[in-house]
Amino acid sequence: MRVVSGIQPTGKPHLGNYLGAIRNYVALQDDAHGVGGECLIFIADLHAISMPHDPATLRASTLELVATLVACGLDPDKAILFNQAQVPQHTELQWLLNGTARMGWLNRMTQWKDKAGKNREGQSVALFTYPVLQAADVLLYQATHVPVGEDQKQHLELARDIAQKFNNDFAPKNPDGSDAPIFTLPDPIIPPEAARIMSLRDGAAKMSKSDPSDMSRINLSDDADTMVQKIKKAKTDPEALPSEEAGLAERPEARNLVGIYAALAGQSVEAVLGEYGGQGFGAFKPALAELLVTNLGPIRDRFVALKDDSEALDAILARGAAKARERGTPTLDSVYRALGLVRH
Ligand code: TYM
Repeated sequence: MRVVSGIQPTGKPHLGNYLGAIRNYVALQDDAHGVGGECLIFIADLHAISMPHDPATLRASTLELVATLVACGLDPDKAILFNQAQVPQHTELQWLLNGTARMGWLNRMTQWKDKAGKNREGQSVALFTYPVLQAADVLLYQATHVPVGEDQKQHLELARDIAQKFNNDFAPKNPDGSDAPIFTLPDPIIPPEAARIMSLRDGAAKMSKSDPSDMSRINLSDDADTMVQKIKKAKTDPEALPSEEAGLAERPEARNLVGIYAALAGQSVEAVLGEYGGQGFGAFKPALAELLVTNLGPIRDRFVALKDDSEALDAILARGAAKARERGTPTLDSVYRALGLVRH
């Protein structure tokens, strides 16, 4: 079992990142540890330069993200926690995979289409080739499990396509004539109840670090009062909650809040509606806010205690990067060899 996933140090990590991905990093870290496997979680700082950025902010956000991940329960003694920039094998493998990835595959990526909009010509090359780096991130370590939110599913499918094509085109043969594949095809692990947490201001937009409105998301660094205010002001409709899940179909904001409650409480949506069906948001919102504060309050407290110790945070990254470089080397060597590139 090899768990691998990444998160970008752009903006503030939020409830969508936590429920969609970080909570699963922690669960899978413990599963992998239990069976002698490994979990590698990295800060995708190289992905962050695909959009305009401020260098000083990038450095500060990288360290804050380490503090957040540890505050959420990632344990640097159990998981390998690092940033891409300290592990050059990621970019090396990306270049080698650029020979396999097809322009047409990248052109179909919805994130590329969404972020580039009508101005494709004006985008960085990095934004276009971003999914190839993401494929390198996971294939380098022979990942078996990749915990992500639903918005990353298409990128993971691309990673599988690249791995498959590379294996077909270049895998060496075993002595008995069978193929000896170079890459493992990774499986995405997407939490069904929190695959896509939506904005608190617009049930049709995903909760995002880049949304200009801070009221659209719960940041993991928000204090209790801020969380309560954001839930109070969250967009809803005037109806009471339905008793059945089907009643949420045309009510995206209500569905989102009930989904958040269910994910935090570890209950099904049906069970939440069993309790709150027939009640209005005047009753439901305070219950949701309390649940949020109970779950995220301790994370925030740990984050605040860790965030200013840049020496300790840098040391976590350096230690993780050393291990990651070691883990990545064998695959990279086989790739160079399979491609006929001569190295010593
Ligand atoms: P990023 O930094 O946008 O998000 C980190 C993780 O959080 C998930 N997520 C969400 N889940 C549910 N609801 C939401 N509203 C929500 N918003 C974000 C994302 O799906 C992701 O799992 N390209 C990636 C980083 C990356 C990566 C990788 C991930 C780079 N290399 C290799 C996995 C494997 C990204 O920008 O995630």
